[in-house]
Amino acid sequence: MGNRISSDYEGKELILVGVLKGGFVFLADLMREIKIPVDIDFISVSSYGNSSKSSGVVRIIKDIDTSITNKHVLIVEDIVDTGLTLKYLKEMLYTRGPLSVKICTALDKPSRRKVHIDIDYEGFTIPDEFVVGFGLDYSGKYRNLPDLCILKEDAYS
Ligand code: IMP
Repeated sequence: MGNRISSDYEGKELILVGVLKGGFVFLADLMREIKIPVDIDFISVSSYGNSSKSSGVVRIIKDIDTSITNKHVLIVEDIVDTGLTLKYLKEMLYTRGPLSVKICTALDKPSRRKVHIDIDYEGFTIPDEFVVGFGLDYSGKYRNLPDLCILKEDAYS
């Protein structure tokens, strides 16, 4: 993925926008595989609160500090589930005059999609399971697990 991004954005001004909190572990790994100069910034949005079900409500908690006007933006996310978060983020970032806004995700759960969203770079497609670790949490916990683990249903049902 890092090689593809490096060649796709060769000679272009690229900013990686990590989606907090879950996306930072993946972003840290990914950026070290990108061989062209890139800028990094973070955005924080509300996702599931303390539940494992999407509320559909997206709220910006922390915005990026960098101007993206006339730059190429790559949103780096941990997982695409319903797609609501990224659909909102992509549209919102497009209002700021970037040259492009693309999406890179470590994981994709397409079976739960509620809105259509084009994913430009995708690590793994996973089944409809709630996963934790590698930056992903349940109720704020388990982000530090080095492996990606399926959370037992009786932990949240
Ligand atoms: P979407 O808006 O439904 O696509 O939700 C995306 C966000 O939901 C992700 O950035 C995660 O924070 C969270 N999420 C979705 N599925 C999981 C999961 O299996 N484990 C942990 N968080 C998840």
